Amino acid sequence: MDNSSTSKLFSPIRIGRDGDGPISLSHRIVLAPLTRNRATEPSLCPHNDHVEYYTQRATPGGLLITEAVNISPEAVGYVSVPGIWTEEQTSAWRAVTNSVHAKGGKIFMQLWHTGRVAHPSFSEHPLLRKSGLAMPSVSSSNSQLRHPRRNTPLPTSTYKGVEEAAVARGLEVSEISRLRSDYARAARNAMRAGFDGVELHAAHGYLIDQFLQDGVNQRSDKYGGSIENRCRLLFEIVETLIQTVGPGRLAVRLSPTTIDPRTGRQNQLYYLATCSNPDETYQYAVKGLNNFDLAYLLLTEPRWNGKFDGDISKDKGFSQPLSNQKYRKVYHGTLMAAGGFTPATAAKALEAGYYDMIAFGRWFISNPDLPDRIRSGADLNIYDRETFYKATFEGGGSMGYTDYPSMDGTVGTSGKYKLIKQSKIGASLKSAKL
Ligand code: FNR
Repeated sequence: MDNSSTSKLFSPIRIGRDGDGPISLSHRIVLAPLTRNRATEPSLCPHNDHVEYYTQRATPGGLLITEAVNISPEAVGYVSVPGIWTEEQTSAWRAVTNSVHAKGGKIFMQLWHTGRVAHPSFSEHPLLRKSGLAMPSVSSSNSQLRHPRRNTPLPTSTYKGVEEAAVARGLEVSEISRLRSDYARAARNAMRAGFDGVELHAAHGYLIDQFLQDGVNQRSDKYGGSIENRCRLLFEIVETLIQTVGPGRLAVRLSPTTIDPRTGRQNQLYYLATCSNPDETYQYAVKGLNNFDLAYLLLTEPRWNGKFDGDISKDKGFSQPLSNQKYRKVYHGTLMAAGGFTPATAAKALEAGYYDMIAFGRWFISNPDLPDRIRSGADLNIYDRETFYKATFEGGGSMGYTDYPSMDGTVGTSGKYKLIKQSKIGASLKSAKL
């Protein structure tokens, strides 16, 4: 029986298009894109654990978004993230989509280019080295991730351990068509692998965002300077991707706002990608996306702070009201949000009409049957942050990945994780106002 406070999450919705018409979803709880660094080395392919992980989270008529997937060698910014530029990777992803579809689920692949976050040492990775393709690290302009106050290079993790952040090279205008082809190849491969669509990762300070924001983008050509010029690459890539996958099968993710955790002020801090006029820039970007037939637009709410799980009332980020619902008036298509939602606040945001769908990250990591738990009001498994990224702990395999149990005991290891009442999660976010 539906828990009435969350029932809005279980109303059906149609988004985008597949071969026969709109994609029909039976509920609005989406698996957010979540990097987990567990790809096979050195092929950077997904494997059986990925099949199991995504299948556990698939529900009839439910939408999953994959972890961010590298579109090309140049895009690789972290260790053991899967790719979608080789034949082997494409066929390995096929096992994931087949299994998700067999459960009646839908799945989009998130396409990633990390831009200046990538380190030149990745070019020594055997798969990348032998590819003969462009190598990291590139951005909108020559730039380096540097500490905002000390002005020293930031540390970045690579296959060789922690290194100084790259000095990225600004892409030449003549390289943009090659970049568009890289995105097109990745999207074509994703569709061949059976995905229902692809999502362009244009958020969180990665390549596309590095063009949008003038703290990084110092160009004086048609890709820099004015807001129109800084948004040009976004629209060009969107155009390329729609031509590749067809209308209604492309989604876009943007992160218009983030919160400085020390001051609580809205700022642009994702990977130090700052912007002098973020509101105007993202208004223009979001408005321009109306010109394309997208499956949905996913906006990141700034109400979550990378490493914070403690007393949330002390976290200035979480005490912010929803920041991006203002884009409801600007964007005319399906709007999805992620970031700091509890089952209750997600349902409220839908009821208020701010968003159409909500993507859950951390709670979906630890609850393979999250929609069922939300529907029945059951307690949730508490996530273990230590095992989010495989690169940062010893062990691996199922640990922190496929061993979170479902309520019916059919998946994962029963009793392994502590539980929390859904109402307690709400209480821990009680300073957050819708
Ligand atoms: C993320 N997030 C993220 N976002 C994205 O667009 N692509 C990605 O690959 C990742 N990877 C990722 C890994 C991990 C371990 C976390 C915790 C987060 C952000 C994610 O999609 C989501 O916006 C946040 O987790 C906030 O939502 P929750 O966790 O508060 O529901």
